[in-house]
Amino acid sequence: MVLLRASRPEDLAFVTALERRPDHLEAIGQWTDLEHLATMQSPKREHWVIEVDGSPGGYLIAYDGRAREAGIYVKRILVADKNRGTGTLALAKYLDHAFGVLQAKFAWLIVYEANARGQAVYRRLGFQRFDPVGEVSRRLAETAEGPGPGAFRMLLKARDWETGGGLLQP
Ligand SMILES: CC(C)(COP(=O)(O)OP(=O)(O)OC[C@H]1O[C@@H](n2cnc3c(N)ncnc32)[C@H](O)[C@@H]1OP(=O)(O)O)[C@@H](O)C(=O)NCCC(=O)NCCS
Repeated sequence: MVLLRASRPEDLAFVTALERRPDHLEAIGQWTDLEHLATMQSPKREHWVIEVDGSPGGYLIAYDGRAREAGIYVKRILVADKNRGTGTLALAKYLDHAFGVLQAKFAWLIVYEANARGQAVYRRLGFQRFDPVGEVSRRLAETAEGPGPGAFRMLLKARDWETGGGLLQP
């Protein structure tokens, strides 16, 4: 069973060991211990442990951009054991929270063009490529960094999540 629970300072060792695993160094951003601890305590950010059958199996970080009409930004998702459906289920649970509890109008993220597995997960959940310009781009950039070279944004609207009934079936 996959569920999310708020990360606690005691989870830091698990989170950083997973993030700093050699096979993850290029796949995702690397944070200091302090950045993780500050995010766990920030009212504008969320830090979740992904539990798989009762044990930590990954983590997810999100930024709250609602006050700036920038929705929810899924900053990072990382799971230890890949291709077992964990990432899809964990992100689906997070989206239920973002669109249900937080009442966000949309969620977005940034993915590398080379990250075919990440894109497969996001598309399955209904995310679509999104290349905003002007005011919208500026608003999103106030909440999180823009996509660097070789990366792009993907976005999912709350109404599409609700219409799709949550996790889309294959
Ligand atoms: C991205 C990540 C969170 C996904 O979690 P996961 O548990 O591995 O993903 P799932 O098992 O739920 O789903 C993987 C999907 O990708 C597909 N997939 C796997 N490898 C693929 C590839 N090379 N090309 C295309 N699709 C691929 C699988 O078929 C599956 O799709 P399906 O459910 O429609 O069959 C995880 O792989 C991870 O931690 N990756 C490293 C960090 C990372 O890239 N984070 C995201 C940064 S934007």
